[in-house]
Amino acid sequence: MSTKAAYTTGKVTHCSEIRPDIYSVKIEIPLVYGQESIPLPGQFYMLRSRPSQTLLARPISVYQVSSEYISEGQKFSSVEFLILQKGQGTQQLCGTRTGDLVDVTGPVGNVFPLPDTPKPVSVENPQIAIIGGGIGVAPVAGFATSLVSSSYDFYACFKNTSYGLEHLKAHKIFITTDDGSVGVKGMLPAVFTEKTIAEKGYTVVYACGPEPMLAYVQKVCETAGITCWLSMERRMACGVGACLGCTITTTEGNKRCCKDGPVFRGDILQFGRQ
Ligand SMILES: Cc1cc2nc3c(=O)[nH]c(=O)nc-3n(C[C@H](O)[C@H](O)[C@H](O)COP(=O)(O)OP(=O)(O)OC[C@H]3O[C@@H](n4cnc5c(N)ncnc54)[C@H](O)[C@@H]3O)c2cc1C
Ligand code: FES
Repeated sequence: MSTKAAYTTGKVTHCSEIRPDIYSVKIEIPLVYGQESIPLPGQFYMLRSRPSQTLLARPISVYQVSSEYISEGQKFSSVEFLILQKGQGTQQLCGTRTGDLVDVTGPVGNVFPLPDTPKPVSVENPQIAIIGGGIGVAPVAGFATSLVSSSYDFYACFKNTSYGLEHLKAHKIFITTDDGSVGVKGMLPAVFTEKTIAEKGYTVVYACGPEPMLAYVQKVCETAGITCWLSMERRMACGVGACLGCTITTTEGNKRCCKDGPVFRGDILQFGRQ
């Protein structure tokens, strides 16, 4: 499922550094196509600050849709993004101030499919595992908040801090950090393995994060015989399916990460062949 992308101008309503190099940026976005333009969990926007030294916008996932409202006859949605300051494009977005304008294309891409649980969701024994690595926490945390409270466990893996977890209503949250400063010391395998899937009775996994982490999730889910949905990252130029610059290899042929994804069923992805 995807919605029709709109090209529009957003206005920054908030920008603050919540952790070193991680920013919360809220943008008021006019709903150009009415209902069709409301972002859904898993989707992203192509954002470019105005003025900008970069030619191309940068893909940034929807973290939270805070509110929708009408002002002077125009409908707006207020969308929060979590942005890791990396190169020029993200530095400019993280350097915006209230009132600054941003070129916005979106919402773009498909969505995380809702779980098709064979049994009714049990609060004592959630069947859904959601996994975020680093800034990849943003889209999966956004998705998680659209699910029933306590119907999922959330696994978050960071280098040396944690963020993006405050809206979660998970049954349990497991955190790892490389240096052990928060949660368990180590990476995802320290808290999530094939044995975890069997013991907890997970039937589906959703994940976004660095590619080695996603390859690991794919492997353990395949061994455990359950479905995983993985949100992939690629460098993007157009963001709307026109340039083929974000192509990834799958067992079903080449796919565009921006248009056919970014969420793919894990078993069709071919890591190491991208
Ligand atoms: C669908 C999607 C959703 C995303 N959501 C978020 C988000 O919510 N928050 C966030 O902070 N970032 C997100 N990203 C990543 C973000 O788009 C890149 O970090 C950004 O484009 C880098 O641009 P830049 O101009 O800051 O850096 P550049 O100067 O372009 O690059 C800086 C460094 O980052 C690398 N890089 C650039 N783009 C990517 C990419 N797409 N994947 C991996 N490495 C890259 C470059 O190789 C270089 O080493 C997302 C990417 C995709 C594809
Ligand atoms: S970025 Fe152009 S097709 Fe995906």
